[in-house]
Amino acid sequence: MCGIFGYVGKRSDAGKLVVEGLKNLEYRGYDSWGVACKTTKGTIIKKDTGKISAVNADDFAHGCSLAIAHTRWATHGGVTAANSHPHTNADGSIVVVHNGIIENYQELRKELVAKGHTFLSETDTEIIPHVIEEEMKTTSDFASAVRNACTKFEGRYGILAFHKTSDILVATRTGSPLIVGVSKEDGYFIASDIPAFMEHTKVVQYLDDGEMVVTDGKSILFTDLITGEEKPKREIEITWSVEQAQKGEYAHFMLKEIMEQKDSIARAVNQDDEQIRVIADAIANASGTFLVGCGTAHKACMAAEYFFSVVAEHHVNVTSAGEFKVHHHFLKPESLVIVVSQSGETADVLEAMNIAKAKGSKVLAIVNSEGSTIHREADYTLLINAGPERAVASTKALTGQMAVLLMIAYAMNDKLHDGKTLLLETAAQINDMLNPRYVNHIESLADKIQTHENIYIIGKSWNFPMALESAIKIQEVSYIHAEGFAGGELKHGPIALIEEGTPCITLAGNDEVTQDIISNTIEIKSRGAMTIGIAPENNEAYEEWIKVPDAGAAQAIMNIIPIQVLSYFLAVKRGMDPDMPRNLAKSVTVK
Ligand code: M6R
Repeated sequence: MCGIFGYVGKRSDAGKLVVEGLKNLEYRGYDSWGVACKTTKGTIIKKDTGKISAVNADDFAHGCSLAIAHTRWATHGGVTAANSHPHTNADGSIVVVHNGIIENYQELRKELVAKGHTFLSETDTEIIPHVIEEEMKTTSDFASAVRNACTKFEGRYGILAFHKTSDILVATRTGSPLIVGVSKEDGYFIASDIPAFMEHTKVVQYLDDGEMVVTDGKSILFTDLITGEEKPKREIEITWSVEQAQKGEYAHFMLKEIMEQKDSIARAVNQDDEQIRVIADAIANASGTFLVGCGTAHKACMAAEYFFSVVAEHHVNVTSAGEFKVHHHFLKPESLVIVVSQSGETADVLEAMNIAKAKGSKVLAIVNSEGSTIHREADYTLLINAGPERAVASTKALTGQMAVLLMIAYAMNDKLHDGKTLLLETAAQINDMLNPRYVNHIESLADKIQTHENIYIIGKSWNFPMALESAIKIQEVSYIHAEGFAGGELKHGPIALIEEGTPCITLAGNDEVTQDIISNTIEIKSRGAMTIGIAPENNEAYEEWIKVPDAGAAQAIMNIIPIQVLSYFLAVKRGMDPDMPRNLAKSVTVK
C-alpha cells in the first residue's frame, strides 16, 4: 500500500510531473499526500491529509528537475499532515518517501533519541532520514549512506531519497515494489507501479528485492543493496496502454471495469493451448495442489475448487494466503502451489509463495500485473490479461481468474476446446446482458434496498464462493453489512438473522443443486425476507428476479456480474466513492 513516485531528468516541471503521475497511483492509498521538489532555491515540501486527486499539479510547476511524492495508506500514525510523507531529518537536508513498514523503528528511534535526534511524527518512516544522517557521519557519499542505513532496517520497504546537496535520486527495495521507467528524452522515473509514468514511457526496468538504484537523470546504476555489486537490467516494453488505465466516458473505474468484462474474459481465455495443457498435467501429476489467494482472489480459488471437482473430478486444496503458513507441514517437493493475485504484490500471497519455494514445491502464479513480484518470481506463470484494474473493488480480475481456472479444469478432462467455447459464449452473453435496460433494472433494485442495514446472499456449489464474494463487494464499496452463506448452512444458525424485509439474494444456476437453493430461499422468505433471485429461471420463491443467461459450468462467472453492478449503485446512491472505499487500498503490500 502507499504509492511512491520520483523523477529526475531534463524536465524542469518535476513537481508537477510527480503530482500528476501520483494521481494514477491513488488506488494504493488515499489518506494523505505529499511532494518534495528540489529547486535551485532549496527543497520545497508540501503535504496534507486528503486525496492527491484534489491537488492542483500546476501549483508545483516551478523550476525543478528532481522531485519525489507519496500517497499514503496509514499504518503507523494516524491520518495527519505531520504523519504524511515526505519526511526529513531535522535540518531538512535528507528527504524520504517510503512504502512499507520498518518493523524495528521503535528500537531505532530510541537509539536516535539517545543521540539527540528529535521527531515530528508518529511514523516508522521518519527514522529513515535520521538513520541516513547518522551514516553520513562516516561517508560523504549520499548513496553509500543510504545503503549503510538500509542494513539497519528490518521489515519491508520501497524508499526514494535525495539529499539537498546532490542531484541524484536513490531508491532501495526490500519487499515493496519499485519499477523504473526509462525515457531517452526525459530521464528516469521510479514508482511503486507503472501507471505513474505510463504516459511518459512504456520502457521499464524492475528492481528486485535487496537492490538499490541510483540515477542523476542521465544514467542509472542498479546494485545489490548489501554488496554493492552491479546488477545489469534488461529494458522491457510493457503492453498496457494509457487508455486502458483511464476512466474514459465512465464516472468511476469500477463501472468501467465491470463493463469491460466481455472483453477481459475473452482475453483471459485466449491462452496458448499447449501451455494450458502443461498446467493441467502439472495439477494432475502433483502430489497435492494448493490454490492460494486473498480476498476476492481467494474466492476465485474457492470457485475453482468446485470447477476441478465437477468438471475434472480432481481434488484441490484451497487456502486463504494469510492462513497458508500452517499448511507448509503438508508441502512436498512434488506439491504444486497455485497463487492467484491481481496485483502480484499482495504480501500474504508473496509469503505463501516463499513458503512453498522453501519447501521445494513448484509455484504457478495466475496474475494480472505483468512484471509484478509474484509474476517474476514464480516457477510458472499465466497472465489473465485483464488490463489495468484501478478500482479498489476487484471485478474484471476476478472473472479473468475464474475463466482461466475453469479452462484449466476443462483441459484436465481433455475438453479444453469445450471449455474455451463455453467461456467465449459466456463473455458474449455478458456483453448482451449489460445493456442499459438491464443496468437500469439493477439500479432501481439498488434504490429499493440501499437504506437497509444488512444484506445476505446465499449460494450453493460454485455459487457459494460467489455469495461470499458478493458480500465483499457490497461491504467494501457501500459499507452495508453483508454476509454470504452456503444455502444449506442457513438453518444451522444464520437464519436467526432474518427479519421482516431483510434483502436476501439467492445466486442460482440450472444445475443439480437448483432445487436445494430454491428450498433455502423459500425458508428465508417464510421468515419475512425480501428475496431476490439472480438466476436463469424465475421462481415464485423470488420476490425480485434478475435474469442471467444459463452459463452451465460458467454460471459463477455470470452470476457475479449483476452483484458487481448492484454493489456499484449501492455505493453511489449512498454517496460513497466506489473507486476509493474508506480504510482500503488496492494492493495490500503489508502483512
Ligand atoms: O491483488 P490481489 O488479487 O492479490 O488482491 C487480493 C485482495 O486484496 C483483493 O482481491 C481485495 O479483496 C479486493 N479489494 C476485493 O475487491
